[in-house]
Amino acid sequence: MNLHEEIAQEITLNGVMPFSRFMELALYHPSLGFYASGGAGRRNDFITSPETGPLFGKLVANALDKWWEELGKPDPFYFIEAGAGPGTLARSILKAQPDCQMALRYITVEESVLQRSQHPEGVQSSGQLPDKNVTGVIFANELLDNLPFDIYESEKTGEWSQVCVGTSNGLFHEVLVKTDEDLNDLFGIAQSPGTRIPYQTMARRWLNDALGLIESGRVVVVDYALPSFPAPANHEWLRTYRGHGPGESPLVEPGSQDITTDVDLKQISSVRIPDSIQFQHEWLQSLGISELVEEGKRVWLENASNPNLEGLAARSRAIEAEALLDPNGLGGFTVIEWKIQP
Ligand SMILES: C[S@@+](CC[C@H](N)C(=O)[O-])C[C@H]1O[C@@H](n2cnc3c(N)ncnc32)[C@H](O)[C@@H]1O
Repeated sequence: MNLHEEIAQEITLNGVMPFSRFMELALYHPSLGFYASGGAGRRNDFITSPETGPLFGKLVANALDKWWEELGKPDPFYFIEAGAGPGTLARSILKAQPDCQMALRYITVEESVLQRSQHPEGVQSSGQLPDKNVTGVIFANELLDNLPFDIYESEKTGEWSQVCVGTSNGLFHEVLVKTDEDLNDLFGIAQSPGTRIPYQTMARRWLNDALGLIESGRVVVVDYALPSFPAPANHEWLRTYRGHGPGESPLVEPGSQDITTDVDLKQISSVRIPDSIQFQHEWLQSLGISELVEEGKRVWLENASNPNLEGLAARSRAIEAEALLDPNGLGGFTVIEWKIQP
């Protein structure tokens, strides 16, 4: 049975399916989901910050040293990277050899078995967050946007319907199911009927678990985000990606495309108010990106008459930095931090 047939069968058995369940199967079905298959992942469908090259990892390594020093150089010092994909960030951070490396316990947490199989030596690879409290940092780049969410649509003022998925004639379609749940505190009262909002229960649950795990340290989330929903009228917050470009409706060919939303800062702040919210370009500047680019230029010029791999890598820092700082691209992502004191 293919994934389309499996989902259709579940709908026939149980009735219409919440969008979050459809998304969970489309992305994370253990053998047929988008993240279970060989070619899937943002490495192939579009570039995340760690996949632009080693510079991002070098900067996160700088951040690690800063956080380690702030905590009084604990040993062990845990760095738990959630939604680690194929382990690219881990490879770059370990290669950067941060000062804290002797104390560092690097745990990569990744749902997909296939992606986990690519994690590098030097990390402890796991399918879920640890079950004991730790001192250190939980870090997630582009995870929360990818956690299954529900969708609600406003009807009359103050009333909401849940967007569910039904099936007929071999196709999936939306079904609006009226809800009595009072969502107005979280969503605000929608000004016009037909306004849609992603209800990010899984993201909030993940954050709550992550905050509960850290004894002393911080949780750091990097993602595309909006201050609150409803989104501006021209902003497509529900996006799909396939093969380096936008995909189709999320209900088409489940398992063949990524499904994602902007993270709602208002919803996740309802778990705990963040200590800091900044753009990625600001955060990377504070970690010394310009200095690293200048250093790269110097190394390149010193080797220009006899170019070697070191020189080429140094030169590529300028190109990586441009992508990482672009305010209309990765530089416009939001870095959200929660500090936890014992
Ligand atoms: C968009 S990718 C980001 C990968 C990587 N962080 C990067 O920036 O390149 C999101 C990853 O999170 C993983 N994931 C989704 N839900 C997860 C969960 N609950 N725990 C751990 N990983 C999860 C997915 O399998 C996928 O590999």
